[in-house]
Amino acid sequence: EIKGFAFDLDGVIADTARFHGQAWHQTADEVGTTWTEELAESLKGISRMDSLQMILDHGDHADEFSQEQKEALATKKNLNYQKLIETLTPDDILPGMLDFITSADKAGYKMSIASASKNAPLILKQLGLTKYFVGIVDPATLHAGKPDPEIFVRAAEVIDLVPESVIGLEDSAAGIESINGAGQVSLGIGDPKVLNKAALNFEQTSLVTLDNIAAKMN
Ligand code: G6P
Ligand code: MG
Repeated sequence: EIKGFAFDLDGVIADTARFHGQAWHQTADEVGTTWTEELAESLKGISRMDSLQMILDHGDHADEFSQEQKEALATKKNLNYQKLIETLTPDDILPGMLDFITSADKAGYKMSIASASKNAPLILKQLGLTKYFVGIVDPATLHAGKPDPEIFVRAAEVIDLVPESVIGLEDSAAGIESINGAGQVSLGIGDPKVLNKAALNFEQTSLVTLDNIAAKMN
């Protein structure tokens, strides 16, 4: 029996993937990596420093950057990103997700956040959603990021549920792998070809409702 939900944030609740993309595109230009949609897609769910490393690896200049320069590049990206997310309002909650979260809350489901983003608390505040979540896993305390299961394991622990009673919601392939590894029911939002390991798939957030989930679970 499902008793709770562990949510990814970027691309599931908040329309922030475009802001990450915008800010990383600028970094890519700066380091001489060609920015492509595939590269943008592969960065979803990946931590800040790992994302930077992937951008450097996609160019021919990966060895040219010292650890110090990498940290400076990541800090600059984050400052640019934070300028973009300061403009977020409850209108930037992805279609249907406010309804889903409030109805799950009313129905007594426990909810937590499993986001790789260190900006998650700020984003939830901007969106007016903080009160619905019992806990937010702090990604700074993790040993390994997605696709490692750790973040979703912790997200179930904070709501005090066994993995089989939790549905994890994700828009990234790395995130689906993490949920599956944690032993939870994975719910993918987006292209079923990209998220082909998800137990349940919805093409868009507006289709994620308690009724639609119950129908797919049978
Ligand atoms: C999420 C996003 C990634 C982002 C990561 C770290 O998982 O999908 O694109 O790189 O969070 O975000 P942060 O806000 O800490 O840089
Ligand atoms: Mg995401």
